[in-house]
Amino acid sequence: MVTLRGVPLTSPQERREALRAVFEEARGCTRCPQLAQTRTQVVFGAGNANADLMFVGEAPGRDEDEQGLPFVGRSGKLLNTLLEEIGLRREDVFIANTLKCRPPGNRDPQPAEIDNCQDYLGRQVALIEPIVICTLGNFSTKLLRGDPTGITKLHGQEQELTIGERTVRLYPLFHPAAALYTPSNVEVLRADFARIPELLAAGAPPQPAPAAEPEPAVPEPEVAAPEADAEPDWAGRDDDSQLGLF
Ligand code: URA
Repeated sequence: MVTLRGVPLTSPQERREALRAVFEEARGCTRCPQLAQTRTQVVFGAGNANADLMFVGEAPGRDEDEQGLPFVGRSGKLLNTLLEEIGLRREDVFIANTLKCRPPGNRDPQPAEIDNCQDYLGRQVALIEPIVICTLGNFSTKLLRGDPTGITKLHGQEQELTIGERTVRLYPLFHPAAALYTPSNVEVLRADFARIPELLAAGAPPQPAPAAEPEPAVPEPEVAAPEADAEPDWAGRDDDSQLGLF
């Protein structure tokens, strides 16, 4: 359970505001000097801040870099179709990437870039508290598992994995772009997708004991109870069209 001054962050609105704060930090990020120079904008991730299901891809491509939203190109269309086939919409899930900036020419993410960016993904997981994380392709699978085993061997096999203070059901899948490249893999991806509802229905695995928070030196002001939350628009474009965040 994520807390702010000892108060659990549970409402969608609180999670969204907390994610928005992380996004504000990420959007000016210069940890990777080349990516900071060549990107059009940071693609932080988009979706439901209260989602039970998260996807983690590789890195934004050209379309994503232009629009500021993840998976809006050809791979994104396939992802949308596969989601619809299991009765889910983009507004039900949160979609992020291993790298928040487009590597020039869509080259592979470099180890130092993955390292620089992983704190943002860790904070997204901590705030969203998903039940299932589907890694899409090799980069996110290797990063979150901390192991070089590739996606061909791992796809479709769930495992319990603790990321920071959250234990999730990690479910590696082929990257949609790889499936588009090798059409027989679309059916493999579709078959793996078909098991996502079952994994969600299993609920969150047992969670690690929360780390004890230090007592505040001075009494903290009362935190007001959150207001009832309105149904979010998945593109989250209330006041900032680049936010791409609920
Ligand atoms: N491929 C990815 O890995 N992420 C995107 O956002 C788009 C394409």
